[in-house]
Formats: sequence, C-alpha cells, structure tokens
Amino acid sequence: MKALILVGGFGTRLRPLTLSVPKPLVDFANKPMILHQIEALKAIGVTEVVLAINYQPEVMLNFLKDFETKLGIKITCSQETEPLGTAGPLALARDKLIDESGEPFFVLNSDVISEYPLKEMIEFHKAHGGEASIMVTKVDEPSKYGVVVMEESTGKVEKFVEKPKLFVGNKINAGIYLLSPSVLDRIELRPTSIEKEVFPKIAAEKKLFAMVLPGFWMDIGQPRDYITGLRLYLDSLRKKSSSTLAIGSHIVGNVLVDETAKIGEGCLIGPDVAIGPGCVVESGVRLSRCTVMRGVRIKKHACISSSIIGWHSTVGQWARVENMTILGEDVHVSDEIYSNGGVVLPHKEIKSSILKPEIVM
Ligand code: GDD
Ligand code: MG
Repeated sequence: MKALILVGGFGTRLRPLTLSVPKPLVDFANKPMILHQIEALKAIGVTEVVLAINYQPEVMLNFLKDFETKLGIKITCSQETEPLGTAGPLALARDKLIDESGEPFFVLNSDVISEYPLKEMIEFHKAHGGEASIMVTKVDEPSKYGVVVMEESTGKVEKFVEKPKLFVGNKINAGIYLLSPSVLDRIELRPTSIEKEVFPKIAAEKKLFAMVLPGFWMDIGQPRDYITGLRLYLDSLRKKSSSTLAIGSHIVGNVLVDETAKIGEGCLIGPDVAIGPGCVVESGVRLSRCTVMRGVRIKKHACISSSIIGWHSTVGQWARVENMTILGEDVHVSDEIYSNGGVVLPHKEIKSSILKPEIVM
C-alpha cells in the first residue's frame, strides 16, 4: 500500500521554529512530526511514502534517508515547481500512487497528530464501497477547519464545507484520507484544493464517507495547538504504554524525557512536558506544559511554563519563561530574564525582559 503526505506550505504559523527546518521536521514529543506519521503508516503495511513537497526537498530527504533504512520503508519526493494546493500534488504524483493492484492509498496532512487508526480506516473503506474515506473529529471551533455534515448511521457525507463562515456543524475534516485510485481522475494538474473542489463533488455523488476518529486529534501547526496537542498525545501514551513516560518524585503528571537528557537535583517537572535528546536541566528547575528541544540547557532555578524552547537554546538561571514564549533555534536567554509570550527568532541573545507578547527579531 502507498501513502502521500502533503508537506508543502511554509509553516508560517509555527515560526520561528520553521525558520530552521520545514514544518514536518519540527520535533513533537521528541521526534519530528512526520516520523509519527511514517511510523504509523509503516505499522499497518504501507511500503512507500511519497512526500508532496514544494520547497527544500533536499533537507527533508537528507533527514529521512536514515529512517528509510531504519524503518524499512521507501520514501520518495514529488516536487512541485509552484504550490499546487492540497489536490494538485496528487495529480502530480499520480504515477507513484497507482499500481496494478488498484488498491486505495492514504493521504495525510503533515501537521495533524492522532492515534492514526489506519487499520480501522481500511476496514471502513472496504465496507462502504464508495470512492473516498475521510476521518472526522469533533472540535469546539469548527470555523478554522473543513466541516463535514454526515449521515450518522452510515457515515455518508452530505456536505463538505471548507472554513465555513456560518455554523454548519462541529465535525471537521481531520486531514487523514483513504482514496480509491479513481479519485485521481477527478483532479487536474494545476493548483487546486481537495477540500474546496474535490470532496464537495464526491459528496454530491454520495461517494464520500466519513469515519469518526476514535481517540484524540490535533492540528499542531500553531503554537497554542502544539502545546495542547502535546498534552493530548502524552495522555494517550499514558493509556497505551505508560512505561515510556518518566517516573520519580520530581515528576508531576505526564512527562517524556529522552534517555540522553540530564536532570539535576530538586527539579519539579510536569505536567505535559517533553525534554529532548542531550538536554541539560540544572538543579531546582520548574517546567510545566512545555517542549524543550534537542540540546537545550536550562540553568538553575529557571521556571518555564506553556512555552516551546527551540533546539540548542539556553535559558539562564532564575529566568522565568511563560505564556506561549517560543524560542527559535540557538536563542540565549540571560539570567533572571522574564519572558511573557516572547516569540524569538533564531540565534538571538535576550538580555532584557520581554514584558508583553511580541516578536523579537
Ligand atoms: N505539497 C503541498 N503543496 N502541500 C500543501 C500545499 C501545497 O501547495 N498547501 C498546503 N499543503 C499542505 C500543508 O503542509 C498541510 O500538511 C496540508 O497541506 C493542509 O494545509 P494547511 O495549511 O495546514 O491547512 P489547514 O490546517 O488550514 O486546513 C486543512 O487541515 C484541516 C485539519 O487540520 C484542511 O484540510 C481542513 O479541511 C482540515 O480541517
Ligand atoms: Mg494545518
């Protein structure tokens, strides 16, 4: 079976992290977002993943080369010369997606995180006999997503409305599809949107079916949602395999600590924290609801909450970093600094406090 991951877009909403790597390579729970997806695809028997990409393909491919062999899965690129939207890339990769077997293939948005119930999706697709299956999930704020109105008993989609201005329903497109090859006959090779141009038509022909996604779901393409997504992910990890989570008197709630990270005396860590490889957390540090990426040093008695600390940054002693502060790669926060929602571009030194949410260039 094959799969295509939509990797395009500049990931502007996740800057400054995406100034260092393409969005799918931003770490989430100690590994690049896209690896969560590739591993889930591999686990259910996908043999080839096509990355539909419109910029920096070398960066992605170089990075993923290692994983091709480690995971035993073929990873190729389909590169656009202009952004083709969310449907055009399928037409471009047509030859890679179709083979004699006539099997359906998966399509994934690269910024969604869930338990990926892909096996169940294959069963669902076979059972309804339509052309396309999509996963849906319920959210409180449907207007920033694609909204799906469906017949509850069969899953048949009656309406698909991308980013509706008026309330249509609260079930939304989760960005995980299983498509029969015939869907490709509906897509022209030009910039086009699967949500606006393809799904509404298949729905009108009553061949689009939606399955309510069991478990959690989050689009982690924005800082606030990324932090919420980590909480949901760790919660689900706790239910499935709590042995991967950290334990100890200094740990509160769900915390993921890479085995190469060092944690000093008298720290209090959690809930909902991920500490990446090679990090050094000195004594007396307090961390909650945050992500600390590879190679970061947090000095004595610093306190970090609801924030993301980018690769190889340092946070000085007694510093307080909170309220959606996002430090890009290699940012150095001096001792005793306060950051209230600072968004700091890579390679910066912060020597005075950031008192209100702002971008520091
Ligand atoms: N190759 C390629 N080329 N990929 C693209 C392009 C492009 O021109 N434009 C966007 N993508 C990729 C993005 O990288 C992302 O993985 C996916 O397509 C969806 O784009 P987003 O920009 O993240 O869209 P969204 O979050 O506003 O909405 C989409 O996702 C929601 C769920 O998170 C839609 O699919 C909604 O219907 C859905 O509810
Ligand atoms: Mg998105």
